Amino acid sequence: MTQQWLPPIHWDGDTVAILDQRLLPRKEVFLRCTKPQQVVNAIRNMAIRGAPAVGVAGAMALALGAQNIQAADPQTFKRKFVRLCQQVKDARPTGNNLGWAVEKIYSVVVENPGSGVLELQELIRQKADEILSEDVAANLAIGEHGKELMPRGARILTYCNAGALATADYGTALGVIRAAHASDPSIEVYTCETRPFLQGSRLTAFELMKARIPVTLITDNSVGTLMQQGKISVVVVGADRIAANGDTANKIGTYMVAVLAKTHHIPFYVAAPRSTIDPTLGEGREIPIEQRDPKEVTHFNGKAVAPLKVPALNPAFDVTPHKYIEGIITEVGVLHKPFGKAIRKAFEM
Ligand code: MRU
Repeated sequence: MTQQWLPPIHWDGDTVAILDQRLLPRKEVFLRCTKPQQVVNAIRNMAIRGAPAVGVAGAMALALGAQNIQAADPQTFKRKFVRLCQQVKDARPTGNNLGWAVEKIYSVVVENPGSGVLELQELIRQKADEILSEDVAANLAIGEHGKELMPRGARILTYCNAGALATADYGTALGVIRAAHASDPSIEVYTCETRPFLQGSRLTAFELMKARIPVTLITDNSVGTLMQQGKISVVVVGADRIAANGDTANKIGTYMVAVLAKTHHIPFYVAAPRSTIDPTLGEGREIPIEQRDPKEVTHFNGKAVAPLKVPALNPAFDVTPHKYIEGIITEVGVLHKPFGKAIRKAFEM
């Protein structure tokens, strides 16, 4: 569709093909997973990342696992399948889409109590395919809604990678940017490096250059200065989990960008499908935040960039309070404040 490359996660027959994002932008190599555990490992070690992509990968891991389960009767199948669902769900804690996808897949088992093993395996694969194609459709819709919010000639700042690589294809924040650029080729993008995993420099810059959308790479700590100089007209980022009141967990550093945007009267938008919204959590402080290996901070490309044994912290996400967010761009439209009410309504659509 929009890419010159294969979608970052797709079926290749009965194999799950995952573009190994750890090697980008230098190499485009697909991992070929035939066992669910291989997909779970790919999620854990960030070969695939980005909340919606992780959700899709989880669904595909379950479809693979369901095929591989040896069971003479549906009861044995269900027992084994529940165990697998839990393993997949636990692969990464912050993004909502993974748990959401596991629930969706498991509902197939619950809703078809009379089905045999073969039929359940087929229905699970169908549901996984549905989750994948619905994610692409949601991103296209997010792009259409979001582009209306981008001023002509906008200088858009984005953070981390919320593009095709972070979803089934097209992207959320980058979906908005792609759609905006299609109707106004004069827009330009600034992408932050996004320390320590460099999703902005390795992935977002790579994707935008492939899409021929003008992009400038900046260090994370130059956001304030660029805003002060009037170089940024709008901010659009993705999300990992959005609480019922609109508080949003996204890549560590997003909160800093949102506070700066508010100070400089620059609108700050979050683009995310409803599968990222967790209406069971009242506010952002309830969102579990993944703590990653401090070595990602103390080392770069395997080389120490800090004194050996210095203690380091590596929270992977932070929470931006809803007061800093101008709007949440979803597939059913742009949600405005009060977000509690708007989110409830979005789930009725
Ligand atoms: O640790 P990552 O790379 O999985 O974090 C990704 C992000 O924070 C993205 O901004 C978010 O998942 C939205 S992707 C559409």
